[in-house]
Amino acid sequence: MFVVVGVSGGIAAYKSVHLVRLLVKAGHDVHVVPTADAVRFVGLPTWEAISRNPVTTSVHDDVARVRHVSLGQSADLVIVAPATANTLAKMATGLADDLLGTTLLATTAPVVVAPAMHTEMWRHPATVHNVAVLRERGVVMVGPADGELTGGDSGPGRMSEPEEILAAALDAAVPRADLAGVRAVVSAGGTREPIDPVRFIGNRSSGRQGVAVALAAADRGADVVLVTAHLDDGVLATASAHPRVRVVRAGTAADLAAVMTEQADGADVVVMAAAVADYRVADVSSIKLAKDAAHGPGLTLELIENDDILAGLVRERRAGQIIVGFAAETPTGAETLLDRGRRKAARKGADLLAVNEVGWAQGFESEENAVLLLDAGGDVVASPQGSKREVADALWDAVRSLRGA
Ligand code: CTP
Repeated sequence: MFVVVGVSGGIAAYKSVHLVRLLVKAGHDVHVVPTADAVRFVGLPTWEAISRNPVTTSVHDDVARVRHVSLGQSADLVIVAPATANTLAKMATGLADDLLGTTLLATTAPVVVAPAMHTEMWRHPATVHNVAVLRERGVVMVGPADGELTGGDSGPGRMSEPEEILAAALDAAVPRADLAGVRAVVSAGGTREPIDPVRFIGNRSSGRQGVAVALAAADRGADVVLVTAHLDDGVLATASAHPRVRVVRAGTAADLAAVMTEQADGADVVVMAAAVADYRVADVSSIKLAKDAAHGPGLTLELIENDDILAGLVRERRAGQIIVGFAAETPTGAETLLDRGRRKAARKGADLLAVNEVGWAQGFESEENAVLLLDAGGDVVASPQGSKREVADALWDAVRSLRGA
């Protein structure tokens, strides 16, 4: 494999010498791209001798071969180790003021990043945000590990060991294709039920978890129809560019019901991750409702119940089709999340139900999630937590075991 190893300016650069050595020993063609700061820790001769390839930090060297993009274009895998807080910030914003930056923008290869920094920097909201942005784009994070740091302090921030980075990188470079040939339909986002031409009843779903489910399946080889109700800005970008994802839009619960019923017809797996309004406005006004003294101080809207799409899909399912539902719960009193999940699993009849806890400050805008995956009998088959992508992968693992794969 043609492997680019980006090295940024942190003391852990010395550990990346061993990483490069492991890659070369495993037979890979390794091209090291250090930042200008990185060569203050480990010099160019070391990188050249270990990688057996020329090394430069500048976009102005080797211009005839258009080096600033050719490395990224040729790469089968890009590893950035160590990735400092500064490099993570540059990656998240797409800055390309050196050879590592241009290489990262020019590549479509899997990117694996091993952060290394002091705990305070790792926990800073700016870094937390940058890491979330990169994860959402599909960048694989390895570590950092928890342990002793250079200043004598300790905590999360140590770069993971080269062997661990290598294993994660090889995993990312040879993507799983364990869902190849599977036709999946995934709904995501929150429906909007109109009141009048300018107002609606909506919900706080960002669509992140559903889109992550769609993307995870497509990355693992499935052909995916992603049916989107309202999504937060930017959530769709990566998925809509995926060659195995087709996006179909649906606004209201009724639109979603129609699209899902049609799409489910040819699907092996259907995932209802969308947050569907249980009710719609009985009489949608064709003109903008104005404040009207005749209403008195209040306004009453009559609502009527929407069809339960998931229940309908379960009723109509074809042989062998697997149906997955989601449940967002706010457990109260003595009833636990699991109790509520079990009751919903029994009521919905889906093969899998992903149950997560939500609240005023929980579960919506967040990049992370924690769910209980219940089978049709209400047994917990997995309880993944982590990024929404990690939760999505665990969901597909559970679907695979149901399919007997
Ligand atoms: N769902 C659906 N159609 C609806 C409402 C919900 O298909 N009209 C689906 C959701 O996409 C989700 C699952 O049913 O996969 C559970 O949704 P949730 O809102 O948690 O449950 P409800 O059926 O609304 O039950 P309750 O109001 O008791 O929480």
